[in-house]
Amino acid sequence: MHNTQNITDNLIYVGASDRRLALFENIYPIARGVSYNSYLLRDEKTVLFDTTDASVAHQFFANVEHALGSRGLDYLVVHHMEPDHAATLADLLLRHPEATVVCTAKAAQMIQQFFGCQPEKLMTVKEGDTLCCGSHTLTFTMAPMVHWPEVMMTFDTTTGTLFSADAFGTFGALSGNIFADEVNFEQEWINDARRYYINIVGKYGVQVQNVLKKAATLPIKMICPLHGPVWRKNLGWFIDKHNTWSSYEPEDKAVVIIYGSVYGNTEAAAMRMATLLAQRGIANIKAYDASHTDMSLLVAECFRASHIVLAASTYNNGIFTPIENLLADLKAHAWQRRTVALIENGSWAPQSGKLMRTELEQMKDITIVGDTATLKSALHDDEPLTALAEAFAASMK
Ligand code: FEO
Repeated sequence: MHNTQNITDNLIYVGASDRRLALFENIYPIARGVSYNSYLLRDEKTVLFDTTDASVAHQFFANVEHALGSRGLDYLVVHHMEPDHAATLADLLLRHPEATVVCTAKAAQMIQQFFGCQPEKLMTVKEGDTLCCGSHTLTFTMAPMVHWPEVMMTFDTTTGTLFSADAFGTFGALSGNIFADEVNFEQEWINDARRYYINIVGKYGVQVQNVLKKAATLPIKMICPLHGPVWRKNLGWFIDKHNTWSSYEPEDKAVVIIYGSVYGNTEAAAMRMATLLAQRGIANIKAYDASHTDMSLLVAECFRASHIVLAASTYNNGIFTPIENLLADLKAHAWQRRTVALIENGSWAPQSGKLMRTELEQMKDITIVGDTATLKSALHDDEPLTALAEAFAASMK
């Protein structure tokens, strides 16, 4: 049975959602599922924008056939070759050998790499090329590294619709409400949108900024991403979020405390630090145990907040592994422009503070406030933390 939805009179949603997958890209937990979006334009020509992940193939093909009705498929536009969107491409072409694949030269190369053959009908496009489908004219714009090098976007100049590939996407399955203005996005979706953006595309802030500059020149009325809801209202709010994330500026002036604690003593010090900061007027402090919080959320929180406290036990003469891994992931995502305070613990040779500082000094524009607060085994009074709490609170003013 098909489950399509009309976005406009002649643009039909033919994607589907997966709530069974535990880990997106086999690494990111998606408790709220994920949608794999695909769109069919019915003009004088029929145009399918992307295919889907294999997990939703059955629903996707039922949707495409229903949306096409008795018509054939004239064009398949491939914006992105990652298998969450292109796994069903070869099957689609078996069903519709009449379709011409429209994509970048690099995507064509990836089709060969993934499927071992080229489409019979292939049209490679580059920046500014257009395709007239009847009353709709499509303009193609390149978006390399958002999120792979072959990525492009399509702008429907007739309706002002941007088919944005991975950009402006989010984790989260769709539940009937296909438009962002039909869900409580600011309350219920934004954390997953941030976690999706930061972890998937966060490393490529420069490339995202380039796309945002191009987008600013287009009269965009609607954004159709490859994951998550379609945007037809309040576009500026979501574009602004991406501008903040991709420029590596903090989203919130706020404190996030992340600790790695073997037996709970480093945790106790981190939580005492939280209290000392609260006593100095800092509101909305968030604290996370790095051993019990998924890395993707920790990284996203470090992008959200302006001020981060890292507390780590010394372990094998190094940084307790969860915090060591967090620092490696932050570095991999080009994390920068933040203010940090450090707390270390070690029963005989505290090392974690020095080692965390070394890692942070390799990142861009990280300000480390004051001296590292050092405890040996356990905290017995506020003295090791007081000066750091004072300086850290002052740095927020
Ligand atoms: Fe949703 Fe980069 O694929």
